[in-house]
Amino acid sequence: MNNDLLLRAAKGDTIHRYPVWIMRQAGRILPEYRAVRSSVNGFKELVKNPELCCEVTIQPVDILDVDAAIIFSDILVVPEAMGLDYEMIEQKGPWFEKTIRTENDFSALDSNIDVADRLSYVFDAIKLTKKTLSDRVPLIGFAGAPWTILCYMVEGRGSKTFSESRKLLYTNPNLAHKLLDKITNVTIEYLQLQIQSGADLVQVFDSWAGILSRAHYLEFCIPYLSRICRAIQNTPVTIFSKGAIGSIPELASLECNTLGLDWNMEIDSVRSMVGESKTLQGNLDPCVLYADHKFIEKQTKKLLDSFKSKRHIVNLGHGIYPDTDFNKVKTFINTVKNYENKNF
Ligand code: CP3
Repeated sequence: MNNDLLLRAAKGDTIHRYPVWIMRQAGRILPEYRAVRSSVNGFKELVKNPELCCEVTIQPVDILDVDAAIIFSDILVVPEAMGLDYEMIEQKGPWFEKTIRTENDFSALDSNIDVADRLSYVFDAIKLTKKTLSDRVPLIGFAGAPWTILCYMVEGRGSKTFSESRKLLYTNPNLAHKLLDKITNVTIEYLQLQIQSGADLVQVFDSWAGILSRAHYLEFCIPYLSRICRAIQNTPVTIFSKGAIGSIPELASLECNTLGLDWNMEIDSVRSMVGESKTLQGNLDPCVLYADHKFIEKQTKKLLDSFKSKRHIVNLGHGIYPDTDFNKVKTFINTVKNYENKNF
């Protein structure tokens, strides 16, 4: 691999500078992505086209010069493979016709699905991208965390509160566990097949972790994340549990290499809780990228100055917002790349 900084940083190996990539870098901000996106009939057509996925996955590597590519796909391909079809409505987001709120809904989900077949378009996209990248940078595979996937399956769409999903945890915890178990089994196979297809590192996005009480987080998230981590061998795993600030010690005990942090989490205090056992990824507030170039440079340097270890991967604290100017992103990336570091 020509540039394996991401993998080295994830494993705690020696690096000469910190690697940097951006969550949701593929799609969203680049005019080149929008051109490809408008050539097809909707988001799902793009996700199911390996050639186009490969093209938009590599765009940020060419244009932004990031240290990793992340395969263009979506976390919602998993519920779809389990029998819950979704639509991606322009300007609105995902919408599922059926939801899972009762035992009957649960029974209607497909069982013993052939993951390799149902999600073959993702594996084909990974194989093609891996080949086309020809070892320039590592390729990241991903999936949603079981709790976050449950949120969409129960709610049927995006929500600020996901109160239907949290309601289920109180009213029918047994059904919630059955659903989480089923999602976990599919997710493990899905991630393993992504790795077999060429993914060099996998990230689990638990975007809705922060809406749970600590007790619920420990009961409905950690055990399933733990199963996923234990099932992935010989490939670095990143767990990004957005908002799970109250459960850092439990996250630190997972068998993963890297913990993703959002901007509410303070690097120093997280480091003192996890020690050198984990690489930390993040955590610039994506809104910093709306400021002027000088301010972005200053905030990025402040973040880098706060690192007291070589175990860091620089990123934002959540996915980049679609209306961010990609020139501002370049300032962020260049600042990381030109930073003179005292830790190496
Ligand atoms: O990171 C990347 O660049 C790779 C591609 C990627 C997408 N979605 C493409 C996408 C990744 C890693 C995701 C993850 C994802 N999808 C998450 C977890 C990360 C996070 O931001 O919290 C979640 C919660 C989803 C579900 C989802 N997909 C929603 C709510 C939406 C609509 C709103 C939005 O965020 O854009 C999507 C659509 C989606 N997924 C788009 C892209 C590029 C935009 C759709 C379009 O181009 O029409």
